Amino acid sequence: MVAKRGSWRTRFGFYLLAIGSACGLGNLWRFPYVVGENGGGAFVLLYVFMALTVGLPLLIAELSLGKSTRQSVLMATQKLTKDSGIKAFVWAGRFSVLLSLVVFSYYAVISGWVLHFLSRFIIEIMFPGDTHHASASLALLMKNGSLQWALASVHVLLTIVVVGKGVQEGLEKWISYMMPLFAALVLLLLFRSASLPSETEVLRFLFYPDFSKLTYSSLIHAIGHIFFTLSVGFGTLVTFGSYMRDEDHVPTAGFRVTLVDTLISLVAVMLVFPIAFQASNVPLTDPALLFETLPRFLMEFRGGLLFGLLFFSCLYMAALNASIGLMETIVSNLVDSQKKRLVRTRASWVAGAVALALATIPAFSSSVFRNVQIDGKGLMELMDSILINWILPVAALGLVISINWGMSEKEKASQFIAHDRFVSHSMYPHWKWALRWYAPGFIIFGMLLQILGLFLK
Ligand code: PHE
Repeated sequence: MVAKRGSWRTRFGFYLLAIGSACGLGNLWRFPYVVGENGGGAFVLLYVFMALTVGLPLLIAELSLGKSTRQSVLMATQKLTKDSGIKAFVWAGRFSVLLSLVVFSYYAVISGWVLHFLSRFIIEIMFPGDTHHASASLALLMKNGSLQWALASVHVLLTIVVVGKGVQEGLEKWISYMMPLFAALVLLLLFRSASLPSETEVLRFLFYPDFSKLTYSSLIHAIGHIFFTLSVGFGTLVTFGSYMRDEDHVPTAGFRVTLVDTLISLVAVMLVFPIAFQASNVPLTDPALLFETLPRFLMEFRGGLLFGLLFFSCLYMAALNASIGLMETIVSNLVDSQKKRLVRTRASWVAGAVALALATIPAFSSSVFRNVQIDGKGLMELMDSILINWILPVAALGLVISINWGMSEKEKASQFIAHDRFVSHSMYPHWKWALRWYAPGFIIFGMLLQILGLFLK
């Protein structure tokens, strides 16, 4: 199995997939409204600090496990169990794969929203003068659960096609074209939104830390979102690590992925908030924040339609890319753990069908199920919040404990330390300490604070 395993021909291939899977809707769609929910500057500071001190060590840990075992998370954790005799490790692996599947189901729905706006821009360009209005178009989508589900199906189908084809053929080629274009578009837009009159107010909101705005849940909201956006806790990075080349240095790769992902998140809030502040009627805590602000803004300036088309195409590519990461986790695990080789394509179809069945819940949450609400939150929002703020931290905790106690000292050191790099020698003890105490400690502390917050409300 190991010998047949696909691996990237170039180091660039790894970065494309790892950064591609990290930078997705988590940065552009989720981060802005989570920052809105948690009051701005103090949360942003907490987020960046936690990304570097909790997210990064865990990301390195997952990659190391994959690279050293050359297996996906199910088989890799099975090996940890075999070596250590601790049964719980293999359950940590299973839990994370299951989580990937459920998260993929609602990720597909949001990706469908992106498709909807993309098609709106196309229609508007082809039939100009339509009474199309960005916010009306969002309302239309929210009312129509079947449309949301249909768009999610299109998305899942596309993901299946790409993942079914396998690592090398499927991905490496075309991902590389979109990313630089997307970066350029985002920077251009940032430039425009920064010239809005609300900019000073926004910079104050985002970067002036007012710690009184933090709540009992803010710490775990930051940690949960970091895991989501870095793809930690899903086993995704174990799969990616298993495709790395022998000569690749895990901590360096991990650091670069974290850095790029965090920068993109910061750019995303600087892009979205000036527009949201300008249109004072948009609540900053709304999960549809991105879709309420950007299309409207794009429609306003000359050439905006074309720009919108390009931007939403790229955003869709980013969403597809991240979905490929999620689906790849599920499929590689199904394929690796089957004694009789389960073919990739069939595994992709099975995973896609299950995800689509689950997607009915978020897709119909603002129409058929709109009365199902807890605390003013609809089903989709509840799903997002339960999965990312409660379940994902548990999954990541399970993985970090398994890796820390299951991987031998020698294995860990050989993954972390590169002979020619002094810094990896000096950082090694810190990494080990972070895995053993610091990261699990913060995750548990954050969870406890969140529970406490429930009682003190
Ligand atoms: N990190 C992706 C995002 O921010 C989501 C994702 C999670 C992708 C887990 C792959 C695995 O959009």
